[in-house]
Amino acid sequence: MIRRAACALGAVGTLAVACSSEPTPTAPAEVTFPRAFLWGSATAAFQVEKGLAATDWGIWVRTPGKIKGGEDPDRGGADALANIDADVALLTASRQNAYRFSIDWARIYPTRDAFDRDQPDPAGVAAYDKLLAALRAANITPMVTLQHFTLPDWLSDPRKPEAPQGWERQETVDAFAIWCRRASERWGGQVDWWATINEPMVSPLAGYIQGSFPPGLVLEVGRALAVGKNEAIGHARCYDAIKEGDKVDADGDGRASWVGIVKHQRAVEPADPSDPADQAAAERVRYVNNLWFLNVITRGDWDDDFDGKLDGPLDRRADPALAKRSDYLGINYYSALIAGGTGGVRVPVIDAVIRLDNLPTSRAKTDFRWDIHPSGLATVLDEARAYGLPIVITENGLADSKDANRSRFLLEHLFEVGRAMERGIDVRGYFHWSLLDNFEWSSGYCPRFGFHAVDPATGARTARPSVRVYEGIISKGRLSRADVDAAPPYAEPSFCD
Ligand code: FCB
Repeated sequence: MIRRAACALGAVGTLAVACSSEPTPTAPAEVTFPRAFLWGSATAAFQVEKGLAATDWGIWVRTPGKIKGGEDPDRGGADALANIDADVALLTASRQNAYRFSIDWARIYPTRDAFDRDQPDPAGVAAYDKLLAALRAANITPMVTLQHFTLPDWLSDPRKPEAPQGWERQETVDAFAIWCRRASERWGGQVDWWATINEPMVSPLAGYIQGSFPPGLVLEVGRALAVGKNEAIGHARCYDAIKEGDKVDADGDGRASWVGIVKHQRAVEPADPSDPADQAAAERVRYVNNLWFLNVITRGDWDDDFDGKLDGPLDRRADPALAKRSDYLGINYYSALIAGGTGGVRVPVIDAVIRLDNLPTSRAKTDFRWDIHPSGLATVLDEARAYGLPIVITENGLADSKDANRSRFLLEHLFEVGRAMERGIDVRGYFHWSLLDNFEWSSGYCPRFGFHAVDPATGARTARPSVRVYEGIISKGRLSRADVDAAPPYAEPSFCD
């Protein structure tokens, strides 16, 4: 406890002490995982595939100045659909029994006309059929994401940012429900685990507040929140569509589908924990980032103005069209964020200054400048527990080109998962981000998140030593505090930017 607190907030810019989460005095010596636990890795189509030019991201990467180094997934990269057997073999070799990936909507329906006529692209369908068949043959449970940041360019065009784009449009909500229905009808025989939208509060933050994602707007908070609202409605409509479309219990667990959201949750800390203004700012950020969306899709509580209260003219409680629309909560957990009242650009409405990277703490950093903060995973799991749903860790990982820190990171985070389960939190699985090095959105190929290195020129895969650590934990189904402590301490990161 004492050492954890000492790691929480250090002097500005210090990297000297590579802290790790230390056990509380009551921490168990060992944690165990159930036999049915989903042990997997995650990817997303645009980050590992080629040939997705007909998306908003396809336009974005070809817009000068948007991607570090001008990189483009069509040049170099993992080319996953051309390497299905090789990648399934990587999963098998490390004893993973689950794989989270996305089926890209625009690969199946590259034009509005094809979508309206329901003429799916045969090559696209065949590629995902092949992947699902290979996973089934290897006894690997698929978890399919139906929208992982990219949207078809016929719904979202970053060349016209002044006009409503993507999730701002009602048309996107309506079309997404149809996409979910068709995808679940087509692949429901192979898929039981569905993730509707990846990180619904991240795309508006990055696309309309920071400007690093399409449509590339800055501090357009009203439009950002409109995106979040339509994603919540889109998720609920997708949930209903999948329940209609997927009637097949593919894995024989007694239910045809588990439909959930995938939320990026951060451990939110006030810049100055003793300052009431910073505490209040941190609470507002935590509410908007971590809780608002979950309140809508689980309880049906619609807080239209994001003020944390259900007393506005457009607010409503327990809306039956939105409530109970998640069978599980997918949690992507990477790090902490710091929120305060002053000291930078204040985001209107949320009324806070938000820092996501280069945090002024003494915690170890990843190559991506995110803090390594395993006990923050406990914080977000305790927070999510209040919703009373099973939880899947749908992403967790780090950029670490030298693989110097991935093993300790993995061990510490999985130990937190085990401890959370001992506290009674119903965690069903863990997916590491990522199986492979991939295209990290506006940062291009610079951050290396993979258990397997990918040569950007040739696509050749090389296992990093940390994947053997994962394999060992999976094989044993348990993890001891001694295993965690035996891992080398965190080394200095290799920032690639
Ligand atoms: C998450 C995204 C994923 C990847 C990781 C590093 O926020 O869902 O696509 O970029 O971050």
